[in-house]
Amino acid sequence: MARIAIFGAGYVGLVTGACFAKLGHTVVIRDVVPEKVARLQAGEVPIYEPGLRELIDECRDRISFTLDLDDVVKDAEFLYLAVPTPEGELGDANLQYVWEVIEELPEGLPGRPVVVMKSTVPVGTGARARARLDARGLTSYGYVSNPEFLAEGNAIDDFMKPDRVVVGAVDPEDGKRVLDLYDGVDTEHLIEIDVESAELVKLAANAMLATRISFINEIARICERVNADVTKVAYGMGLDKRVGEFFLKAGVGYGGSCFPKDVKALETLAKNDADYTFRILAAVQEVNRLQKLLAVEKLGQRLGDLRGRTVALLGLAFKPETNDMREAPSEVIARALIDGGATVRGWDPEADSDAIPGIERCATPLEAVTGADAAVIVTDWKELKSIATAEVRDAMARPLIIDGRNLLDPEAVAAAGFEYEAIGRPTKATPVAVS
Ligand code: UGA
Repeated sequence: MARIAIFGAGYVGLVTGACFAKLGHTVVIRDVVPEKVARLQAGEVPIYEPGLRELIDECRDRISFTLDLDDVVKDAEFLYLAVPTPEGELGDANLQYVWEVIEELPEGLPGRPVVVMKSTVPVGTGARARARLDARGLTSYGYVSNPEFLAEGNAIDDFMKPDRVVVGAVDPEDGKRVLDLYDGVDTEHLIEIDVESAELVKLAANAMLATRISFINEIARICERVNADVTKVAYGMGLDKRVGEFFLKAGVGYGGSCFPKDVKALETLAKNDADYTFRILAAVQEVNRLQKLLAVEKLGQRLGDLRGRTVALLGLAFKPETNDMREAPSEVIARALIDGGATVRGWDPEADSDAIPGIERCATPLEAVTGADAAVIVTDWKELKSIATAEVRDAMARPLIIDGRNLLDPEAVAAAGFEYEAIGRPTKATPVAVS
């Protein structure tokens, strides 16, 4: 079993660390934010991810947290970087935190410590990191790219049963050692390729998934105009094995910390480093920008002027089973509604109470919809599947539901007396008098 140092106690660092500890390795996670480290040391987990708290508790004797560089590198055989690489000012990735860690790695660690890049980085970062390690005299350190494919809300399963584990190594022996760390995970594909290809696998996979979402969202637009149902179209398309069923859910657009950033990063990388205009990605992003505003358009069509109206946003996080608000469509929708003069209420079981400034936060969906002129399902939390009740209908000033996630059964909702509109599905509107 190995001794693994992880830099960064964010989402990726914590999940990766907990799962490696579960596999039997000894893990020390270092972060530079004192409050975060103190909470982790006290047994708290600062992010919401199903099963993570339990896993960290279960592996307490093999996982620890520190602020201190010496603690984390002591006896480390692998030095995992799981620090943020946010979008930079020019659309490229900001690698400041990556370089900070590379600069502070100490000389003289015994054996052959391997620096492993988990953070999502542009193609070419590995070569630059290798050159920097050499320039600092750390020639005995290995360098391996090991992109992560965890999806929030399902991250532990994604780690333990991945479709594939990818490593790209400067020296193939180092790559093999990193793959060995995954002994015990349930996968058929442990693959070793070159560093540049490994870096690009990550960006290309996310960009492809985002492309699928924008594609189905455009199909949904067509469906609305020709009276077709996008959920049935996606089902029929997905049965073709070459197309596949996943990531064909139309909705209010993709959000999160990965797709928006990685699509932009790949587009920028193509332009700056490959002198190539990646035309599809420009369209993917434009479709997504417009898709986030579709629910507002639909409200305008139904309610007319939004001034003085009250709208309940049901779900705020960018997807269910997370408290993550990064690039969440709810923010764009709330901002447009507030700018249009509406009062906005919000319900979400996990997002922080001040997640969106200027909205009124409610403890239950019922509280959020009471007296509202419309409700918008923004995040497909399972709690919302049963929202179309007589109690909710009677509590609303106008029982109008815009279902931004195609979560409900249109016929059942109409039968329950709601005015209902989904994304890319035929509308069976039950006209309701406006008082
Ligand atoms: C995504 C990828 O799925 C992971 O494989 C990858 O490791 C991760 O980014 C990353 O780069 O770190 P994540 O952002 O956690 O994971 O969430 P997804 O489940 O992929 O959802 C992203 C967004 O797409 C959400 O807003 C979701 O609502 C939306 N989406 C997803 C759709 O609108 N339709 C779909 O069919 C699927």
